[in-house]
Amino acid sequence: MSRRRGLTDSVRGFIFDVDGVIADTAVLHTAAWRRLAAEEGLPFDENLADQLRGVSRSESLRILLGDVKVSPERFEELAARKNSYYGECLSSLTEADVLPGVRSLMDALSSRGVRIAAVSVSRNARTVLIHTRMIDAFDIVIDGNDLPRFNPTLNRFQHAARLLRVEPGACVVVEDSATGVAAARAAGMRSVGIGDADRLCVATVAVDSLRDIDAARLLTWLSPNARHRPSAAFCSSR
Ligand code: BG6
Ligand code: MG
Repeated sequence: MSRRRGLTDSVRGFIFDVDGVIADTAVLHTAAWRRLAAEEGLPFDENLADQLRGVSRSESLRILLGDVKVSPERFEELAARKNSYYGECLSSLTEADVLPGVRSLMDALSSRGVRIAAVSVSRNARTVLIHTRMIDAFDIVIDGNDLPRFNPTLNRFQHAARLLRVEPGACVVVEDSATGVAAARAAGMRSVGIGDADRLCVATVAVDSLRDIDAARLLTWLSPNARHRPSAAFCSSR
């Protein structure tokens, strides 16, 4: 079997998404959008909730509005209202909200010399990391406030790899969203998809959660020539 171009056996960087990976805040984003949709009489279901995962606030609102046209001022008001609903939930986050398996995997990776980043499109991601006491556990943190100052020809994971000083082929992205997994792939990185395997079809490895995930076994699954890896059924290319 041929080795996938650019991927190395040695993984030297791990890039963790925040919402839905470090903490279960993806459900809080969903609850805030659902509340706004109900107030505005806009349809909202689980399928739509999945489409909004890993998507910026303004792009999410565009998706939610669909064909409904609103003025720029009203658009801003709707986005701010959703953010205030999300903010209400954030204030009660604590370290108990860190998802199972995250800390032990990060510790095991750090002890192997792997550099670790937190990267999110959310402008609230640093707040999430502060409330959950995870902010100091990363070599670098990039959130939605940082993205506008980056070169737009590179995606957020490529920027993280540069800051970590690790080549993309030696980086792994951990993501719960289809858009995030696609961005990792576009960056020439492997990915670990967390959650529904159908949503994470193109992830290199797909698991329900990081609970009980052994770092050594995960690195074996991520090897370019791995014979077995847990992944989404019915997906042909990864
Ligand atoms: C992502 C979430 O991490 O951040 C999305 O998955 C959210 O649901 C996006 O819309 C932007 O977040 P924020 O906090 O900047 O509105
Ligand atoms: Mg996420």
